[in-house]
Amino acid sequence: MKLTTVLALALATPGSALVRFHCSQLVVERLDPLVNPGMVPSAHVHQIVGGNAFNATMDPKADLPAESTCTSCQFEDDFSNYWTAVLYFKSRNGTYKRVPQLGNNQFEKANGGLTIYYMQDPIYESKQTSKVKAFQPGFRMFTGSVTARTLPEALPFRQLTYVCMDSWTQRSPETIAFPTRKCKSGIMTSIRFPTCWDGKNLDSPDHIAHMSYPETGTFESGGPCPTTHPVRVAQVMYEVIWDTTVFKDEEWPVDGSSPFVWSFGDGTGYANHGDYLFGWKGDALQKILDANCHFMTNCSKETGLKLQSIDAMNRCMQRPKVEEDVNGWLNALPGGYHAEYGHA
Ligand SMILES: *[C@@H]1O[C@H](CO)[C@@H](O)[C@H](O)[C@H]1NC(C)=O
Ligand SMILES: *[C@@H]1O[C@H](CO)[C@@H](O)[C@H](O)[C@H]1NC(C)=O
Ligand SMILES: *[C@@H]1O[C@H](CO)[C@@H](O)[C@H](O)[C@H]1NC(C)=O
Repeated sequence: MKLTTVLALALATPGSALVRFHCSQLVVERLDPLVNPGMVPSAHVHQIVGGNAFNATMDPKADLPAESTCTSCQFEDDFSNYWTAVLYFKSRNGTYKRVPQLGNNQFEKANGGLTIYYMQDPIYESKQTSKVKAFQPGFRMFTGSVTARTLPEALPFRQLTYVCMDSWTQRSPETIAFPTRKCKSGIMTSIRFPTCWDGKNLDSPDHIAHMSYPETGTFESGGPCPTTHPVRVAQVMYEVIWDTTVFKDEEWPVDGSSPFVWSFGDGTGYANHGDYLFGWKGDALQKILDANCHFMTNCSKETGLKLQSIDAMNRCMQRPKVEEDVNGWLNALPGGYHAEYGHA
C-alpha cells in the first residue's frame, strides 16, 4: 500500500523531469558484455542504446568516448551503454514475435530505444538540490533477477515495474508482474537502479553487490543508505515503451492469460532487469548533476552540453554481430527459450 502511494506520487508529475532524455535503438541482438562477456551470442536477446563502441567484450579501462564514433543518445557526450531484455508476444499458436518498441512521450520520432533519467532527488521534487557524485569510468551495474518467477523473488527489485497504458502519458498504477489485460496504448516498463554505492568498487562479480537500494523505504521516500553502501548516487531510471497494440485479437490467448514473455522465457514479468555501463565524456555527467536542469533545452543551457537531433540519434546504429532472426514469428525464443510461468 505504502509503496503504491509512493510510486503514484513519484509519477504524478512526469513533466517536472530534470534530466530526462532519450536514446534511440543502437542494435537488438544477443550480446551482453556485462553478464556474458566475450560470448557471441550471449544467452538472451537485448535492446541496446548509447555509444557505438558496444561489443561482446568491453574492457572496464576502455575509453568509450574515444572508441565511439557516435551515440544514439541525445547528449552528444554520453557514450554509455544502457540495455534491457526484449519483450516477445506468444501467439495463440505458440509462436513468438518481438514486441515493437516506440519512442516515448516527447520523443515520438525516436526509433525505439529507451528514455533515461538521472536525478539526485525524487522526480516530484522540482528543485533538485542534493549534491551527488557522478559515476566514474569503468562503473557498471545490473539490477533485477533473471531467475525470479514469483512475487517474493521479485520483491527485492520492486522498483522495476510495468504500467498498462490506456493513454500515451499514463504512468500509474504500476505493477511488478506483466499486465494481463490489453493495454490500449501499450506497456511501459520502468527500471530504477539502486542509489547507494559502497564507495569503492566500480563493479562486483554479480554486478549488483557494490550497489544497494536504500535500507528502508525507497529513494523516493528518502530512505537512508545502509552502512555497507553509504554513498548516495544519482538515481538512474529507464523507461521503455512496448507497442503491444499491433497484435490482432485472434492472436491473443483464448484464456485471458498474458501473452508476454521476456527474451529469456519469463512469462510472469517478475524477472525484469536492466544493465548500465557508464561512458560519459569527461565531467559531463557531473556538470548535469550540479546544474539546475529542468527538461532538456534548459539543461543544455545550464550546462553548455550539446544535444543532437532525434534524426542524428536514429542514424547511430550498429550492424548486429550475431546473425539470427530475432524479429520473425519464431518457434522458440533466440537461444532456445520457451515461456515459463513460475515454480510451485
Ligand atoms: C569485439 O569483441 C570481439 C569478441 O570479444 C573481439 O573479437 C573484437 O575484437 C571486438 N571488436 C572491437 C572493435 O573491439
Ligand atoms: C502462428 O500465428 C502467427 C500470427 O497469427 C502467424 O503469422 C504464423 O504463421 C502462425 N504459425 C503457424 C506455424 O501456424
Ligand atoms: C532552468 O530552469 C530552472 C527552474 O525553472 C531555473 O531556475 C533556471 O534559471 C533555468 N535555467 C536557464 C538557463 O534558463
